[in-house]
Amino acid sequence: MTLEEIKNQIKNISENYKEEHIGGWITGDGPIPCDILFVGEAPGKTEVETGKPFVGIAGKTFESYLNSIGVSRKDIRITNTCFFRPIKKKLSKNGRETISNRPPKTSEINLFRHLLDEEIKLANPKLIVTLGNVPLKRLTPFISIGTCHGELYFNEEIGRYIFPMYHPSSLTYNRNEEFKAMYSKDWEKLATALKTLATK
Ligand code: URA
Repeated sequence: MTLEEIKNQIKNISENYKEEHIGGWITGDGPIPCDILFVGEAPGKTEVETGKPFVGIAGKTFESYLNSIGVSRKDIRITNTCFFRPIKKKLSKNGRETISNRPPKTSEINLFRHLLDEEIKLANPKLIVTLGNVPLKRLTPFISIGTCHGELYFNEEIGRYIFPMYHPSSLTYNRNEEFKAMYSKDWEKLATALKTLATK
């Protein structure tokens, strides 16, 4: 499959999806092939508006940590597990509609299963970094990020190295210093993992 075919399928699937509310769609971004592929959860409002993954608040956090280990965004590829923005709509007391993000359902992740596989094949990365629990469960047998973050694994099933990390937005709701220190340490461990893989 080509990148163009992947994009067309993402568009088709998203535009024909009627089971739940969604708010637009995007594709992955960055060079193909690439050494590192980061995989997030699903795009939010800013991502859909700009057509690029990780450009909102979580994206800014992500990019500053990425730069802190000497890696530039232009050198990596970023994509998502679910390519449309899952939303929920609520009517407020004064009758106004409010829209918020919701986590993608398993069935929604499965709509894009073959397309993420094709993107990984095309990108052919030395390392896949999963951001948060959603891509973790999609690409590894692990159940929770709390037990496996910051370590390099070889996933026999997909034949690739995987480095699980917390989602950058977890810093927004875990504001304590202990979590922040642990998160920074995981980025340092990622830098070490990259050096190890460069020699392989
Ligand atoms: N969070 C994600 O998981 N993906 C994005 O693209 C943006 C925010």
